[in-house]
Amino acid sequence: MIDSRDYEEFSRFLRDCCGLVLGDSRQYLVSSRLSRLLEEFSFESVPELLRAMRQSPNPRLRTRVIDAMTTNETSWFRDGFPFEILRHVLLPELSARGGSIKVWSAACSSGQEAYSISMVVSEWEESRPPRKVPVSILGTDLSEQVLEDARRAVYDGLSIVRGLSEARRARFFEEVADGHRVIPEVQRRCRFQKLNLVDRYTALGKFDLVFCRNVLIYFSADTKRQVLDGIARQMNPGGYLFLGASETAGPYSDAFETVRTEYGSVLRVKS
Ligand SMILES: C[S@@+](CC[C@H](N)C(=O)[O-])C[C@H]1O[C@@H](n2cnc3c(N)ncnc32)[C@H](O)[C@@H]1O
Repeated sequence: MIDSRDYEEFSRFLRDCCGLVLGDSRQYLVSSRLSRLLEEFSFESVPELLRAMRQSPNPRLRTRVIDAMTTNETSWFRDGFPFEILRHVLLPELSARGGSIKVWSAACSSGQEAYSISMVVSEWEESRPPRKVPVSILGTDLSEQVLEDARRAVYDGLSIVRGLSEARRARFFEEVADGHRVIPEVQRRCRFQKLNLVDRYTALGKFDLVFCRNVLIYFSADTKRQVLDGIARQMNPGGYLFLGASETAGPYSDAFETVRTEYGSVLRVKS
């Protein structure tokens, strides 16, 4: 059992290091998420693990604890409409501005979001040959485990079917011994790096399009404010932002305005 003092201390640790808010009385969640780590690091109980973290900072253990506490749920073409807007509205508009298009998939989990964006770019290019637009996609996440999966770009039978049509699977994947690998044409535009959204990210440069989806829901109001304003600073004038279907910017930041299209809505940074 995790007593309330340990629980509060662990909640504070998670909130301070990565913005994640556990909420009240979710001791069961902590126990179940950390149970495999207890075995691996030979701890008898969660309180013992917490004591070890308190007494001697072990970066590897700390990283593994954070990895275990993140929710990495994702799928291909999640929610559909952002990718329709991308293909029919944003790619034509951003490419008409000239130069390259820089995209950031913030909190990219195991890469499905970044690769879905890249597949849409391939489809769009095919629909209007011979024009090719240089598009680079940066995927970032806090969890090293999911970033490893993203870089590997091999998906098993369960994850491959989530959100992917048969036609896209045939066009954009090749069979390998342990699953389905994203083809080089799609991988080529994407790179992945570790980034904590509560840290500073000015070094990333500026983006024309940001996907920051289904991560703000885990943050406090203050962290949402900080992250949205930080993202706004990293966007080129007229840049676009997609949040998750249940997330809004309005109450936390006035840096964005809503743009409605026939495929759904997207946020645009105010000039
Ligand atoms: C639910 S997944 C969303 C993945 C994808 N964006 C989507 O919508 O399908 C949330 C991701 O946010 C990451 N995450 C949580 N806190 C973070 C933080 N402080 N900085 C960066 N990534 C974070 C988690 O590791 C996880 O991979």
